[in-house]
Amino acid sequence: MRKKLVAGNWKMHGNLAENNELLNAVVSGVAGLRDASVSVCVPYPYLSSVQATLRDTNITWGAQNVSQYDKGAYTGEVSTAMLKDFGCTYAIVGHSERRTLFGEHSKVVAEKYLAAQNAGLIPILCVGETLEQREAGTTEKIIEEQLKAVIALAGVDSLSKAVVAYEPIWAIGTGKTASPQQAQDVHEFIRSGIAAQNAGVAENLTIQYGGSVKANNAAELFAMPDIDGGLIGGASLIASDFIAVCHALQN
Ligand code: 13P
Repeated sequence: MRKKLVAGNWKMHGNLAENNELLNAVVSGVAGLRDASVSVCVPYPYLSSVQATLRDTNITWGAQNVSQYDKGAYTGEVSTAMLKDFGCTYAIVGHSERRTLFGEHSKVVAEKYLAAQNAGLIPILCVGETLEQREAGTTEKIIEEQLKAVIALAGVDSLSKAVVAYEPIWAIGTGKTASPQQAQDVHEFIRSGIAAQNAGVAENLTIQYGGSVKANNAAELFAMPDIDGGLIGGASLIASDFIAVCHALQN
């Protein structure tokens, strides 16, 4: 059985006091969950305190980005080894906000993915299309290109140590969720494309859906056969909502 994962992506939100309150509530809210993994990807400055809060719980943590370089004169960057120092399990790579707002193209994303894996982190690789691309009928082509860049650099087998998150850009932060069938269609496309190269890797790959996942729509999304959890933005900042999304994984 492949692993299901709900991960919160806090983006650039939070402060020490609010984070503590949020995490303490989430820790008790998901303490009884079986067979489901819960994680939070937090801003770099909070990794230390998040580590201290979550260390002895069933929740893991990670970062929202990472440098492709090991070390050196890269002002403002954070390396994979630094994330390991703070006990991170995951690093999100290729989030659409990084691709569009910070100019990260697929080659850089692939380098970050590989650097994360080489350091023993699990990359959460985000892929997804814009509304224009969907309307032009190029969704599959775009996703295929995004995946291809990673497979070309790291090989298809590397996906056995990764998570893929399908995040249609038009659904992120808009309140406009992909329908369960729309999401399932893309997830199935991703899994079958990988299966053509390595069936075992495809079968075991966790593919999350992200984009306006909320307490009231998580269960129907997670019920689809190729949706293995979610990458949650806004709803991960509200304890009761995030807890409800995590519980939807078990239904
Ligand atoms: P929202 O859940 O706020 O739409 O954000 C999704 C996302 O970008 C998660 O990485």
